[in-house]
Amino acid sequence: MRAHPAGPLHGSITPPTAAGAPPAELGVLDPHVWPRSATRVDGELHLAGRAVTDLVRAHGTPLFVLDEADFRGRAADFATAFADPELGADVHYASKAFLCGQVARWIAEDGLHLDACSGNELALALAAGFPAERIALHGNNKSLVELQLAVDSGIGHVVLDSFDEIDRLAPLAAARVAAGGDPVSVLIRATVGIEAHTHEFIATAHEDQKFGFSLATGDALTAAVRVIREPALHLAGLHSHIGSQIFDTAGFEAAAHRVVGLLGQIHQATGELLGELNLGGGFGIAYLADDDPVSPTDVATRLRTVVAAECAALGLPVPRLAVEPGRAIAGPGTVTLYEIGTIKPVRLGAGGGPGTPAVRNYVSVDGGMSDNIRTALYDADYTCVLANRVSDAPPALCRVVGKHCESGDVLVRDLWLPSDVAPGDLLAVAATGAYCWSMASNYNYLLKPPVVAVRDGVATEIVRRQTLSDVFALDAVLADAPAPSPAPDQPAPEHAAGARS
Ligand SMILES: Cc1ncc(COP(=O)(O)O)c(C=O)c1O
Repeated sequence: MRAHPAGPLHGSITPPTAAGAPPAELGVLDPHVWPRSATRVDGELHLAGRAVTDLVRAHGTPLFVLDEADFRGRAADFATAFADPELGADVHYASKAFLCGQVARWIAEDGLHLDACSGNELALALAAGFPAERIALHGNNKSLVELQLAVDSGIGHVVLDSFDEIDRLAPLAAARVAAGGDPVSVLIRATVGIEAHTHEFIATAHEDQKFGFSLATGDALTAAVRVIREPALHLAGLHSHIGSQIFDTAGFEAAAHRVVGLLGQIHQATGELLGELNLGGGFGIAYLADDDPVSPTDVATRLRTVVAAECAALGLPVPRLAVEPGRAIAGPGTVTLYEIGTIKPVRLGAGGGPGTPAVRNYVSVDGGMSDNIRTALYDADYTCVLANRVSDAPPALCRVVGKHCESGDVLVRDLWLPSDVAPGDLLAVAATGAYCWSMASNYNYLLKPPVVAVRDGVATEIVRRQTLSDVFALDAVLADAPAPSPAPDQPAPEHAAGARS
């Protein structure tokens, strides 16, 4: 479903419902979808040993609740699955999924590497004490300042994305070498002509998108040859990333086939044997009970097998593998808690379809597209449950919407909730750890919610709630004006970052 060109506010946005038949029981926590610690105690949702009502009393709503053991457990699962006693392997956490100082520290402590996609992500990781040599910097338009930071801080790799970038980086690297430093280690990002999302992948000869050097046009080989001839740059290996929320390893296997072919071409053209192959991220997670992601162990086994076979076919030594999971580490362990404000039964028009009720309840919560843009942006599917209690009221067809001035401000498009849900009840939306807080905005001047990490019953605010003063401080007229505190739409008490409850 795409919005009307004039914007969703002006378009018809009543698609047929995809809710299906109501489930036999409402409010069930499918272990696929919910954080590993999620459970119900006397009907109430508990996360990492804390009741949601208790967390909301202390930290307000909307609230991101992150199960620390889940996040770190999934990072460890990838590290274990890819560990290779002979060649080693690097698991980079793709920090764009969700990054803050505490997450950078966990990833550092747990021995993973980290991907930054901008100079500011890099600066944040460095400020949190993340070891520079375990950071890779991505981006299709890295500025001189970003590249200078990468060079000066001694990060592990710069992932090169364009010829302009090679021109920009080479003199900075040469200056470092002239001052007695090491050459700058780089990867070439190859666009391999594979596009994968969820169950399918498409292999094409050309690639109409902004990232990387095309393999099909020969740009990737040209770039590699050029970098190899640049004495201040060290070409450590190749990189490829084919998409997101992928459930099937076939796309990765096709990409590995092509990128190993490029290793062979580079060897033929220059005699260089590159030692690293980074196959990117994109490993899918379960947002809905029917989603069936591949386990890190299966992904690792498949990728190792394919790369080994391709290398054997070309007579190349097997390179060290790297991957960059973001969503698969950060996504499943976090839920967003919202308070219901209004419920509006709306008659369904012709779009209702056979077997669907005549009415859909629009359940409005106190956040929306400013804390989760993915439903509006990507048609993403989420599920949610009534969190503060269970109910045996009959199911009602619902759509969970935010409080923004957009009809497209939808959080959960189609679901069944108990018909007695009421203003003041809490809803928990599952699997919101990736690309929700990190894509949050201040649309309609809603404030960014806090993130609370919970472990063994102790909740720590790892990112505090934004205040209206934070926002006023950026405004030329209002910088010194007193801001109502707490903000009018957020009656919850404010907490300093690091506050515990
Ligand atoms: C280069 C690169 N690596 C890794 C990722 C992480 O993807 P995911 O969070 O789906 O694992 C992305 C996401 O866009 C990416 O562009």
